Amino acid sequence: MTGRPVVAVQGLGFVGAAMSIAVASALDATGEPLYDVMGVDLDDSAGLARVAAINEGRFPFETTDADLVGALVEARARGNLSAGTDAEVYGRASVIVVDVPLDIDWRAEQPALRLGGFEAAIRTIGRHVMADTLVLVETTVPPGTTEKIVVPLLAEELSARGLDADSVLVAHSYERVMPGADYYDSIVHYWRVYAGHTEAAADAAQQFLETVIDTANFPLTRVGSTTASETAKVLENTFRATTIALMDEWGRFAESVGVDLYEVVDAIRMRPTHANMRTPGFGVGGYCLTKDPLFAKLAASELWRSPMEFPFSTAAVRTNDDAPRRIAERIAELLGGSLDGRRILLLGISYRQDVGDTRYSPSETFVRAARDAGAEVVAHDPLVSHWDELGRDTPAVVPPAAGFDAVVFAVSHREYRELDLPSWLGDARPLVYDGFGVLDAEQRRFLADTGCRVESLGRGSPDPLPTEH
Ligand SMILES: NC(=O)c1ccc[n+]([C@@H]2O[C@H](COP(=O)([O-])OP(=O)(O)OC[C@H]3O[C@@H](n4cnc5c(N)ncnc54)[C@H](O)[C@@H]3O)[C@@H](O)[C@H]2O)c1
Repeated sequence: MTGRPVVAVQGLGFVGAAMSIAVASALDATGEPLYDVMGVDLDDSAGLARVAAINEGRFPFETTDADLVGALVEARARGNLSAGTDAEVYGRASVIVVDVPLDIDWRAEQPALRLGGFEAAIRTIGRHVMADTLVLVETTVPPGTTEKIVVPLLAEELSARGLDADSVLVAHSYERVMPGADYYDSIVHYWRVYAGHTEAAADAAQQFLETVIDTANFPLTRVGSTTASETAKVLENTFRATTIALMDEWGRFAESVGVDLYEVVDAIRMRPTHANMRTPGFGVGGYCLTKDPLFAKLAASELWRSPMEFPFSTAAVRTNDDAPRRIAERIAELLGGSLDGRRILLLGISYRQDVGDTRYSPSETFVRAARDAGAEVVAHDPLVSHWDELGRDTPAVVPPAAGFDAVVFAVSHREYRELDLPSWLGDARPLVYDGFGVLDAEQRRFLADTGCRVESLGRGSPDPLPTEH
């Protein structure tokens, strides 16, 4: 026992594993750690693998972020970070951070909330938590969840233990963590929104976050209720997913009328109010942007009994999910009308550059669509050695272009942006389709000059390689 306050982090996934490291790295003015951090996961194969990784000083997921790995190694050496599956830990914690999932079966015809796992996680906390502990929910949830689910479930469990139902401080503060090159920084050096179920809970959340996050440079924003904080998260992600979906139709329009949408968007971005306008892409993947735009609609009907249509948000989810299928159709068209018997090299499997997360990746949808149309697809990704969703190992190095009818750039991984094109291409002259703005004008010109047909999503110039401006 060190006498330091214990922080328990429930869920050691992409968010919780990184958050545990961030909390364990919080130091006082003399460089001493402020907390003993205990990560908790389920006693199943995935949970045990994550627990073992943390205890061995390995980050449980592929990452390119040396800061995150360095902070983990330091915390293990200091001895203030460990992981396990024993829920008793919650009974010793002054702060419990909730980083478990809350799912939607978003691809179903009638999507619904799947609250079971989240509710079970909250009940587990309620069966062990001490009075005055801060329970900080970071999970992305349907707006209203803290008020209508978390607080009542904790009250029920506390009452069953003969404790005061209101004796726990409940707050919500959503994660904006971005797995990728700046994984660790996106927690510690980034702005946060938070709210408490009570004023005291909001104050406790503020005090805790100020010790973990560089709030001097990235100030916290307190909003009026936990429902407001939950709404901020889902609106933030819905905004992003919707603007991506919007560009889908403009990309196709640009292609059909011979306009380069990248040039158009760059011109518009000069206007400060439009500086973050998106360019078209290969689709949207990952665990968040795929489902989050449906949370408000489901909250309205399932938590607030006040159903509302969310036509834009709903259409965004469908449009983004369909994007890779439309790209497969476009490639069939470019190859003369059919993918039957064609060999395609797909470069990029994860949903984002510098990330190894393959959940709901657009590349998976693309491969399934191309395979259904009769193509053979070889897929590579520098950060994915085994593709769980498709149950296959992937080549360790970028396969040469030889033998492929088409090469599709799907993710802007650094390895692809810096590919040595002449040696990779050799004598092959495949169709090169850039689905994510991976190749620059010079690279596209080189490929075209060697005799490849080069096409890019959203670049519809009759000369696909306009001179640089
Ligand atoms: N991945 C991201 O980039 C990201 C970014 C911001 C917010 N979020 C949100 O954060 C939340 C977590 O996402 P994630 O990507 O880390 O999910 P994840 O699936 O990678 O990890 C969740 C972990 O929680 C564990 N878990 C489930 N029930 C548990 C329980 N009762 N006790 C202990 N552990 C339990 C699971 O075994 C898993 O290891 C989600 O709401 C997500 O939308 C994710």
